[in-house]
Amino acid sequence: MNVLDAAQQRYTTKAYDPARRVPEELMQQIYGVLRNSPSSVNSQPWHFIVAATPEAKARMAKGAQGEFSYNEAKITHASHVILFCVRADADQAHLDSILEQEQRDGRFKDEAAKAGQAKGRLGYVNLHRYTQKDLPQWLEKQVYIALGSAMLGAANLGIDTTPMEGIDVAALDAEFGLHERGLTSLVMLSFGYHAETDFNAGLPKSRLAEEQVFTFL
Ligand SMILES: Cc1cc2nc3c(=O)[nH]c(=O)nc-3n(C[C@H](O)[C@H](O)[C@H](O)COP(=O)(O)O)c2cc1C
Repeated sequence: MNVLDAAQQRYTTKAYDPARRVPEELMQQIYGVLRNSPSSVNSQPWHFIVAATPEAKARMAKGAQGEFSYNEAKITHASHVILFCVRADADQAHLDSILEQEQRDGRFKDEAAKAGQAKGRLGYVNLHRYTQKDLPQWLEKQVYIALGSAMLGAANLGIDTTPMEGIDVAALDAEFGLHERGLTSLVMLSFGYHAETDFNAGLPKSRLAEEQVFTFL
């Protein structure tokens, strides 16, 4: 699909057809999009929890109770649901694992190149940790890039999605033991195919005018 068509056709699905499943081969493409998402200094501060069975989606729905119950059916009736998690810290063990992966992937011509990459990356982490004091926000921004890529990628494959910040992150952190893994939950994305009853499917898209959102120099 033309990328503009995909961007214009995608919309936030409010009701899913519970009988329709996204083929596994298409979800594999989405997982590939997520893994290949860019991040500042290749920090990859994310972890993705995937629910594809009714039992797994019921666990995800523990994050959509009470004040967030308006999102519950968007989880339980979807085909697949991904919880986007962010690392609480860019600790040395994580930075080391990135560096070793880059080495295995053939990114360094010699030890000096590897050391330079390690130093540059740590410089950015320390800038956000100590100078700008926004390390958690900086890490979250990286995860949101992956969220955007996944939504556009899904639209391109004809898959409907629902991004959800209306989730109980504390309940989800507890449900999946995220703190023990140095993670917290951030945002959720459901995948599937909309129901006939989805009021949002027929509404026109609404965006600010081009001249309001662009300055062409
Ligand atoms: C980060 C993010 C969080 C959102 N959270 C929710 C949510 O919890 N529940 C929901 O129904 N829609 C949610 N939305 C959908 C937005 O309301 C929607 O993207 C916006 O109104 C634009 O409409 P469109 O996505 O249909 O183009 C969220 C969107 C984004 C990008």
